[in-house]
Amino acid sequence: MTDCKQGSVAVFPGSFDPVTVGHIDLIERSAAVFNKVIVAVASNQEKTPLFTVPERIKMIEDIFTDSPNVKVETFSGLLIDYMANSDVKVVIRGLRAVSDFEYEFQMALMNRKLAPGIETFFMTSSALYTYVSSRIVKELASLGGEVSDLVHPLVEEKIKAKYS
Ligand code: PNS
Repeated sequence: MTDCKQGSVAVFPGSFDPVTVGHIDLIERSAAVFNKVIVAVASNQEKTPLFTVPERIKMIEDIFTDSPNVKVETFSGLLIDYMANSDVKVVIRGLRAVSDFEYEFQMALMNRKLAPGIETFFMTSSALYTYVSSRIVKELASLGGEVSDLVHPLVEEKIKAKYS
């Protein structure tokens, strides 16, 4: 049986292009449950990201500067390979709505098939944030819409600079 208690470390992977209030909520809640949460920024997801990986990492680090058990790293290639190298066995993923479920279920099963010791923990997003996604934030900001409710002020400033 998988021992998920060892060290109580979890990885929260994603594109984070950019990190949203929905992500922040999930990271904060995960950090209250696990001894350490590694936010793992995927570097090979989107062909044309808005933010570079170092920019994404810096924004998350700045937001969580007062959370010593939240670390930010990057990975490329398979998540399970990164986790094996970091010796982490738990993945946290957020579920906003039923529409997220199919893809997330498929990914969790695939990761477990590839690496049987890995467990995926799903966290429901807070009701307030079910409609928030990085894609929506970018679309809104690119068209001059207000994103202050959807991202941290540090991120809002950076997005405005990108589209100015
Ligand atoms: O924020 P996202 O885009 O929903 O995050 C998706 C992510 C980066 C977690 C997922 O695509 C991923 O783990 N990519 C790395 C490649 C991999 O391991 N894929 C799953 C098995 S095929």
